Amino acid sequence: MGNAYERRILVTGGSGFIGSHLLTKLIEKKNVNHYPYHIRCLTRNKNSIMAQNKNEKDIEIIDGDLSNYNDCLNALVGTDIAYYLVHSMEGSTKNWKRFSEKEKATAENFSRAATQCGVRRIIYLGGLSYGKDEELSQHMLSRKQVGEILMKSKSKVTIFRAAVILGSGGGSFEMLRYLVERLPIMVCPKWVKNKTQPIFIEDVIEYLFRSIETEQTEGKVFDIGGPDVLTYFDMMKIYAKIINKSITITIIPVLTP
Ligand SMILES: NC(=O)c1ccc[n+]([C@@H]2O[C@H](COP(=O)([O-])OP(=O)(O)OC[C@H]3O[C@@H](n4cnc5c(N)ncnc54)[C@H](OP(=O)(O)O)[C@@H]3O)[C@@H](O)[C@H]2O)c1
Repeated sequence: MGNAYERRILVTGGSGFIGSHLLTKLIEKKNVNHYPYHIRCLTRNKNSIMAQNKNEKDIEIIDGDLSNYNDCLNALVGTDIAYYLVHSMEGSTKNWKRFSEKEKATAENFSRAATQCGVRRIIYLGGLSYGKDEELSQHMLSRKQVGEILMKSKSKVTIFRAAVILGSGGGSFEMLRYLVERLPIMVCPKWVKNKTQPIFIEDVIEYLFRSIETEQTEGKVFDIGGPDVLTYFDMMKIYAKIINKSITITIIPVLTP
C-alpha cells in the first residue's frame, strides 16, 4: 500500500511517441523530485518499454490490450489518474474507416472500465480540429469521437487538443526530416500549404504532467500550440535551412493524398 498522498497513475501508449516521453517525465519527477507517484503502464509489448531503458523498479508494467475489456479493468483497478495516449490509425487512408471503428470500441472499453473502477481522472491528448463532423478527415473525426466517448465515463476528463507535435521520433516530424534530408526537389500535394500550429513535444509533456497537479484542469478541454502558425511548406523550408540544404518544393494542386 502506498502512502495517503500517493497518486496512482496509469499511462497507456507508453511505447508510443507521446507516452514514452511522458513516462520519462513522470519517472524523473518521482525519482529526482520525490513526487509520490506510483506509475503503471499498460502495454501490448513489454519489451518496447524495457528497450527505452525503463525498468520495473520505476514502473509497474502490465501486459494488456485495451480492446479487451478485462485488460482495461486489470490496468485501471486502483488507478487515480489515467492517461489515454493510444491510437492505431495506420496504413493507407482506405483502412481508416475500419481503424476508427476499432478506436471507438477501444475507447468505449476504457471509458466503461474507468467508471467501474472509480478512476478519478482521465487525461486524453487528441487532435486539434474545427468544423462540422462531416468536414473532418476520418483521422480527425476519430480523435474527436474518442474524446467524446471518454467524456461519457464518470471520471473527470481533461482533453488537450494539439495539431502536429514536433520532436524526434514523432511520425510527422520524422516524415518531414526524411523528405528534406533525401530529396532536393519535392513534388507535394496542395495541403502542404495548409496552416497548422505545431507544438514541441516537451511542451506537450509539460501540459500533460502539470495537469495532474492542477485541479483546475479537471473536466476541461484545452487547445495547445506553439507560438507560430506555419505550413508544412514553411516547416520543410526552415528545416532545410537549419541543415544547410537547398530544396525546391513544387505544389501540384490535383495531388491530394
Ligand atoms: N504525434 C502527433 O503529432 C500527435 C498530434 C496530436 C495528437 N496526438 C495524439 O497523441 C496520442 C498518442 O499519439 P502518438 O503519436 O504517441 O502515437 P504512437 O506513437 O503511434 O503510439 C500509439 C500507442 O498506442 C498504443 N496502442 C494502440 N492500440 C492499442 C491497444 N489496443 N491497446 C494498448 N495500446 C495500444 C501503441 O502500443 P503498441 O506499441 O502496443 O502498438 C502505442 O504505444 C494520440 O491520441 C494522438 O492522436 C499525436
